[in-house]
Order: sequence, then C-alpha cells, then structure tokens
Amino acid sequence: MAEKKTNIVLTGFMGAGKTSVGKSLAREKSMGFIDTDDIIEKNSGISITEIFSRYGEVHFRTLESQAALEVSALKKHVIATGGGIVLSQENVDCLRLGGKMFYLKATPEVIWERVKHYQHRPLLQVQDPIGKIRALLSERESCYHRADCTIDTSHLTVEQVVAKIVEDLDGSGDFSLCEG
Ligand code: S3P
Repeated sequence: MAEKKTNIVLTGFMGAGKTSVGKSLAREKSMGFIDTDDIIEKNSGISITEIFSRYGEVHFRTLESQAALEVSALKKHVIATGGGIVLSQENVDCLRLGGKMFYLKATPEVIWERVKHYQHRPLLQVQDPIGKIRALLSERESCYHRADCTIDTSHLTVEQVVAKIVEDLDGSGDFSLCEG
C-alpha cells in the first residue's frame, strides 16, 4: 500500500509567498517548517547569492536537488521550496512522494511589488527585472503545473491562502496529518 502523504509542499515563483504562507500554515497545523533555500545555505555554508556568483546556476541546481531529496525524507512538515525547484521532474517526483504539492501562483506585477525591495535573489539582479520575471514565468509555467493544486495568491492575504490550503486538505482523501 502507498504511504500516506504527510508533508505540504509549497512551490511557485519568487515572491509568491511560499515562506510566509508556509510558516503560518505550519503554526496552524502544528507541523514543522523547512525551506529548501535554508537547507542549501546551511549545507554549503554560504549564501544563495554567493553560490550563484562563485559557482553558477548549474551548481546551485545540483545543491537544490540534494536539498529536495533531504527534505522529502521528512514527515509532517510544511516545505517551502525555491522558485526553480520544479524545473527538475525528479525534484517534483521525490517531493510529491510524501507530500501534497501546491503551486502558489501570482501575476508578474504582483511578484514585482513583493520582491522589488530585496536584493538576495540573483536571478532578478538585472536591468529589466519585470521582463525577466515575465520570461521566467512563461518558461516555467508548465513546470509549476506539475503540482497537485494551484492557488492564485495575487489578491489574497497570507491568512486567506493558508485557509484555502487547509480547506483543500480537509476535503482530500490522499492526505493525513494524523497517520503516516
Ligand atoms: C530561485 C528562487 C529562489 C532561490 C534562488 C533561485 C529561482 O528562492 O532558490 O534565488 O530560480 O526561482 P525563492 O523562490 O524562495 O525566492
């Protein structure tokens, strides 16, 4: 018999709200919280920005896949993932094995509003960040739809997104927080 899924996996573009929603959801459900970017920084001992600038994106993606494997061994955790983790089908497969995956969607304009004051995302440190957001989103859209469920967060508060996820989980038969 297939094992019960006990994790909640949050995917979506940078600025989609994965970390804030994840922390709040974990509190509400009394689950652990973990973020794959934090694991990567902890394992490598340097920041994501330094990883990109010293070793490049390809190396970052290797570390990200290792982090995906590491967190997918956990139980009863809310897992917030980096915006590009879904680019690898293997990452998606291992994360979905023990968890239900939600795609937190947002429009490019909303994403820009949410990220524009932060400098820690190397992919957006370019001349035309909105253009870059649009291009990456359209390249990645099909990958994000590898998730089990999509929630458009563009006009929702963190609390409203949490409520939608809880509502979805309560009505879903393939997920249990009590067993597993
Ligand atoms: C990335 C998203 C970032 C981080 C890295 C690359 C991406 O995480 O993993 O800068 O490729 O979209 P957040 O989505 O948490 O900002």
